[in-house]
Amino acid sequence: MPTMTLTFRRIHPHFVAEASAIDLHQLHDRPILNQIRAGMDEYAVLVFHDQSFSNDEQLAFAQRFDGSTRKAGVSAMIGKGRSGYEGLSDISNVNAKGEIWSSEDRKRMSRMTNRLWHTDQSYEKPNGRYSMLLAKTVPPVSADTEYADMRAAYDALDDETRVRLEGLQVVHNPVHTRSILGVELSANEKAQIKGAVHPLIRTIPGSGRRSLYLASHASHIVGWPIPEGRMMLMDLTEHATQRQFVYQHAWKVGDFVIWDNRATMHRGRAYDDMKYRRELVRATTLDV
Ligand code: OGA
Ligand code: MN
Repeated sequence: MPTMTLTFRRIHPHFVAEASAIDLHQLHDRPILNQIRAGMDEYAVLVFHDQSFSNDEQLAFAQRFDGSTRKAGVSAMIGKGRSGYEGLSDISNVNAKGEIWSSEDRKRMSRMTNRLWHTDQSYEKPNGRYSMLLAKTVPPVSADTEYADMRAAYDALDDETRVRLEGLQVVHNPVHTRSILGVELSANEKAQIKGAVHPLIRTIPGSGRRSLYLASHASHIVGWPIPEGRMMLMDLTEHATQRQFVYQHAWKVGDFVIWDNRATMHRGRAYDDMKYRRELVRATTLDV
């Protein structure tokens, strides 16, 4: 068997690399898996092309790569996806019958929150660590995903701000995210959602780099008056999502993007989702 080689090519000044040709769905080679993990520590976002995974294979890959996958999130509570697995999210604009959803579909309303800058499952503990999104159907128009480098954003803060932020804890709750867009949740749904508290500044163990841990789920700073904390989170988000920290991914079928939720934020961009099908599947591992 020929020796497998994998190389990364940086495609943004701060983060993001594109991987050389490799077939991940049957990859069991531990040194190569470790090389991908090291690549995640360096680049925070890795783009692989021409991948094909069944749902089983994608879930198995996520588990081989990083251990345990997450439990079902809030969107699964609102409407079942098609993957059939808790650890896989159906990121598609279609209903259970596979038809493009209707404009008032609750899942559509809830999924609209993906267009706000966020990290996956920051409202849980353990939060999401790596997310791995596979593009199965993409529209002929742009329907991109943007990523922002929260390590570079941290590095660019002035000393006074860094000192001020040190040690702060932040409450994350998906009810907050939904309230931003006016998505209603029932009392019963709200009762199932607890939210989670996380530090505002994290150090990523693999790289030792510090990072701003922000998300649209972030509702307030523990111990601060709510408006003051919320304003600080808004200012930091504005800072961290300036163009120089952002990479915009234009999906092709077979693209498989892995991102580190501890080191990045992301958001989906608007497209005509009542006209074009867009079907992606995401696996997310737990930050344990
Ligand atoms: C996600 C997500 C954005 C998009 O899958 O976690 O936020 O562009 N996706 O679909
Ligand atoms: Mn997301």
